Amino acid sequence: MLQCNGMKTVSPLIVGNWKLNPETLHDARDLFLAIRKRLPRQLGDVAVVVAPPFPFISELRRLAPSGRIALAAQTAFAEMKGAHTGEVSLPMLESVGVTTVILGHSERRAQGEQDAAINASARAALKRKLTTIVCVGELERDTEAGYFGVVEGQLIAALRDIPKTQLKDLVIAYEPVWAIGTGATATPEDAHEMKLFIQKVIVAHYGRPALKKVRIIYGGSVKPDNAAALLDAGAVDGFLIGGASLVATEFIDIIKTASTYVKRSV
Ligand code: PGA
Repeated sequence: MLQCNGMKTVSPLIVGNWKLNPETLHDARDLFLAIRKRLPRQLGDVAVVVAPPFPFISELRRLAPSGRIALAAQTAFAEMKGAHTGEVSLPMLESVGVTTVILGHSERRAQGEQDAAINASARAALKRKLTTIVCVGELERDTEAGYFGVVEGQLIAALRDIPKTQLKDLVIAYEPVWAIGTGATATPEDAHEMKLFIQKVIVAHYGRPALKKVRIIYGGSVKPDNAAALLDAGAVDGFLIGGASLVATEFIDIIKTASTYVKRSV
């Protein structure tokens, strides 16, 4: 936490979600090294995280011994072990250096991932003190503002039985699905409005002090040329970045932009 003009502030969190990219370990190494090489020496309190596909995590951890680039998993299963073919557990992820998990991404929800499973993984991850990014977002912007109800429903389901004491490791990523990978971005005003709405839901559940603990980031076609406005007028606490995180120079430009911002948390 930083202090700025007497206001409490949070450090921006910049997360690159590589999704099902790149194709090989060789290419993953190249991309990671290109990012590492360009990472500014002074990050200005920005936390940088990369979420590669599972098979690449160990090797990339080896390439980032200083921890200046933290590693995330793109999903995680709630059970610790047992007969769950194809799943990956939190202890497994921790054992290869993962400190952050992304849960409930819309591309996984579209494959059938349910609120209950997202909530179970979130509870397990927060209990283990992992930084836990829960994604929420509407499929479309309807004219009756039903998108607030969609986001509220996803939030309430994801936060079920999560105690107040574990909120400091929780991050909410507002990712309107219509903006993901499309080049269409929420306006900074829309992002800000949704941030305030998410904060309202959090306050209703946990009380006002919770606001200082939970970061609210934005995802959906974040690029170097819209990052500043989203941080400034949008007042979001960071980004979840897909496409632009696969281009080292773009990812670094966004990190540099974020390093010039010190965000107010409330
Ligand atoms: P995008 O993806 O930046 O390519 O829109 C964001 C995400 O899906 O997290």
